[in-house]
Amino acid sequence: MTESAYIFTNTQFKSELSRLQVLEKVCDPASHRRILATGITSGWQCLEIGAGAGSMMRWMAETVGTTGKVTAVDLNTRFIKDNDLSNVEVIEADINQVTLPGVFDLIHMRHVLIHLKDQAILTKLLKLLKPQGWLVIEEPDFSATRFISGTPLQQQSVEKVHQAICQMFTNQGKDYALGIKLPSILQQLELQQIQVENDVSIAAGNSDIARLMKLSAQQLAEKYIATGKATLTDIQIYCQFAEDRTAWGIYLATVGVMGQKLVDLGINKATIHKLSKPHS
Ligand SMILES: C[S@@+](CC[C@H](N)C(=O)[O-])C[C@H]1O[C@@H](n2cnc3c(N)ncnc32)[C@H](O)[C@@H]1O
Repeated sequence: MTESAYIFTNTQFKSELSRLQVLEKVCDPASHRRILATGITSGWQCLEIGAGAGSMMRWMAETVGTTGKVTAVDLNTRFIKDNDLSNVEVIEADINQVTLPGVFDLIHMRHVLIHLKDQAILTKLLKLLKPQGWLVIEEPDFSATRFISGTPLQQQSVEKVHQAICQMFTNQGKDYALGIKLPSILQQLELQQIQVENDVSIAAGNSDIARLMKLSAQQLAEKYIATGKATLTDIQIYCQFAEDRTAWGIYLATVGVMGQKLVDLGINKATIHKLSKPHS
């Protein structure tokens, strides 16, 4: 993936930081819970992909302590490069291109895979995991979006903006419903102990998730309009809907999936074949 393909590439520092901080407020509690369930402890080596504004990077750094380490990779490290954490290494790179040294006890990415053209990166990540290491991935599912209550005008615009969001991803060759496919994708990677959660909030206007989607709509207005599915007026009404405390909707779901890499017993396929051959 080239940098220009990331939809939020040309955003201004302050507005993108605000948007990412709202995303962190919405998602961090569930991410902490999921990662704690892996048994993360001091001394662990962690990889945070697409670290954004860095709250998960900082939380993991605190959790693994000075005997552990967090490697944080992002296309653009403007929000995380100036930190005073001795156990954090920040790498500015495309995760598809970079060669990372070492292996990890935990690899985490949230709202990142949906921005990549395919999931080929997962095979690479599997090689970077230690045996029994954990992969924790949390991705949006925009097929869960629905208007619940508000004015007929709001309903029309919310539905049009939703279509524009889906079309924008589709036009880029990306899957707007990637979240719901994650369990099957991780299963195909032969990860073990797969655990799945689907976080879907029924949210009123002015809630954090509504603010998140409003900030995204403001930043991506041109891209939504370019799909031909929504107009500037629709986006303005969508933003009013997202501020209206009496209007309710499901803005998106986040599907969190975690799985553990199989222990490498050092038995290769040829050996397995020999072992399974009937005695003559
Ligand atoms: C929607 S933000 C999510 C940020 C953070 N993971 C969170 O959930 O708070 C996506 C992040 O992934 C980064 N990103 C997108 N494509 C990437 C790639 N190919 N390689 C590395 N980082 C990427 C973006 O720069 C951005 O910081």
